[in-house]
Amino acid sequence: MTTKIVVLISGNGSNLQAIIDGCDSKAIAGSVVAVISNRPDVYGLQRAKDSEIAHQVVDHKLYPSREDYDQALQAAIDTYQPDLVVLAGFMRILTPQLVNHYQGRMLNIHPSLLPKYQGLNTHQRAIDAGDSEHGVSVHFVTEELDGGPVILQAKVPVFDTDTSDDLAARVHEQEHRIYPLVVNWFCQQRLSMNTQDTSFSAVLDNKDLPTQGYASE
Ligand code: GAR
Repeated sequence: MTTKIVVLISGNGSNLQAIIDGCDSKAIAGSVVAVISNRPDVYGLQRAKDSEIAHQVVDHKLYPSREDYDQALQAAIDTYQPDLVVLAGFMRILTPQLVNHYQGRMLNIHPSLLPKYQGLNTHQRAIDAGDSEHGVSVHFVTEELDGGPVILQAKVPVFDTDTSDDLAARVHEQEHRIYPLVVNWFCQQRLSMNTQDTSFSAVLDNKDLPTQGYASE
């Protein structure tokens, strides 16, 4: 049975596209059954439409509190009975209740070499800090914002002349390579989250991954 994936977006959806393409080409052993956005009129919704994938908006502006919103979001996601929930540029802080409901089956991509630069403006922060390398991390989602166990990272160089946009473009290229790969590991049941320990870890092919994930070099 194919792995059912629901993708959550807030914007352009280039990572969504990489995952749709991966499913189409069978590089990912799963299928995107729905795309949900918290913002109307974003290009990612058009991408879903173009691929004839169910898509809907659950607009955060229509809910009085974060808890109310996340309840509605959870109900929307669960309509599709997904095996995996993929956050692809979904720019919302999630309630513990929502995160725990999808424990071990929710992934996120974050544009930094975690644990560096949790939160926003990661590219500019890497430039301002004078870092010579920057990158992207795919991780399981836990209650700690951008703090769940890392599965895979990719590094890119930072050049002296880089603007934040230059660096974002270089990171994006890597995002589109590593996210489909990790999603496929999950679909092939090679990847899980160890919830036995007090600190979670990612497990690939029955081995605990180091804190920086698989192949951190
Ligand atoms: C990506 O760079 C992703 O890493 C980032 O949003 C962008 C979405 O691009 N996510 C976060 O910052 C999450 N904290 P996309 O809409 O083109 O996939």
